[in-house]
Amino acid sequence: MPETSVVALLRQIETVGADPERGGYSRHVFDPAERELRDWFTERAGELGLGLETDRNGNIWAWWGAPGPDAVVTGSHLDSVPGGGPLDGPLGVATALAAIAALQLEGFAPDRPVAVVVFAEEEGARFGIACLGSRLMVGAISAERALALTDAAGTTFAEAATGFGLDVAHLGTDREALDRIGVFVELHVEQGRGLIDLGSPVAVASSILAHGRWRIRVRGQGNHAGTTELADRRDPMVVAARAILASRDIASATKGVRATVGRIEPVPGGTNVIASQVSAWLDVRAGSDAATLDAVAAISAAARSAAVAEGCAIDIVQESWGGQVLFDPRLRDRVATALGGVPVLATGAGHDAGVLAAVVPTAMLFVRNPTGISHAPEEGATDEDCEAGAVALVAVLKDLL
Ligand code: GLV
Ligand code: MN
Ligand code: MN
Repeated sequence: MPETSVVALLRQIETVGADPERGGYSRHVFDPAERELRDWFTERAGELGLGLETDRNGNIWAWWGAPGPDAVVTGSHLDSVPGGGPLDGPLGVATALAAIAALQLEGFAPDRPVAVVVFAEEEGARFGIACLGSRLMVGAISAERALALTDAAGTTFAEAATGFGLDVAHLGTDREALDRIGVFVELHVEQGRGLIDLGSPVAVASSILAHGRWRIRVRGQGNHAGTTELADRRDPMVVAARAILASRDIASATKGVRATVGRIEPVPGGTNVIASQVSAWLDVRAGSDAATLDAVAAISAAARSAAVAEGCAIDIVQESWGGQVLFDPRLRDRVATALGGVPVLATGAGHDAGVLAAVVPTAMLFVRNPTGISHAPEEGATDEDCEAGAVALVAVLKDLL
């Protein structure tokens, strides 16, 4: 019999992509772990009698009944950040499967088509652009640009997608997939402390911070750590360090701005070698597009002055951008009411739901996270709250169907 427990479903994948070096999970688009999760999803959806298809951009759709139009779609993603937690993504997918199993078990007959979707490369952990599958679908990134993206090993997205079996000639805006979606609801683990003190296992989303990613590349002169006088150095690591400190100072000076450098790559990367080049990836978020871009401009100016002072060259390139998202207020209120008036929360985390919100009515449900930690192994939710999330999703689906 199909599994109606989210916790039991998540247990089925608890070893897939476990990362013994970093802790947590490393599940990246089209890698063996992510493919195993896709197979798991396909099997579970098959047990529910759902019709499966992988779209032109690598997103998986599982249909209850004939596909669209005006479908109620729910789902999330199965990929993770490096060393991520168990729930960011999989909770929304497992809960969608559990909710459909529960609806089928009670003999519920939907009046609208229903689908569970698994979006590809939500974290952008392999190819750098978050929500790549949903952005491609809505046309928020061109196929040409996506195909040329490379991972850390130099593999292009075109190569990885072809290896997975996609016909990359058809990558890009997918009107057919979009036209079938009437409404999208993504359930997700809460990624901060927002729900901890509100006395509810579930909340509804109001908005997502504006956010983007920038790559700061600094070029200096590689040299010997013992023989090069300090006055003779052109050390890009020093410039990167000043840029990182500037990002903290500038974010601290403006309420609501968050700036992070979580990834840095020195070349060649030797202990006794002054680096010749350093790349640092900057993630900036704030409550408005303008506040985000102002902070980036200030950090960029500080990084450029540091480069001049150190005799280094610098270039700063925007890799991705997502403006502030305000979820459809009518749908938000309808969902909150269907759940008996649960709290409404803003989030600083990006989601495929944020991409879809630009083109279809979209809502999000958050499940309480008692650690408040996410993108790290400590991310979690109690079993009771995960099951409460499934009960909530069932109620929302019934209301929309
Ligand atoms: C994804 O979770 C992000 O917020 O970057
Ligand atoms: Mn995430
Ligand atoms: Mn996520």
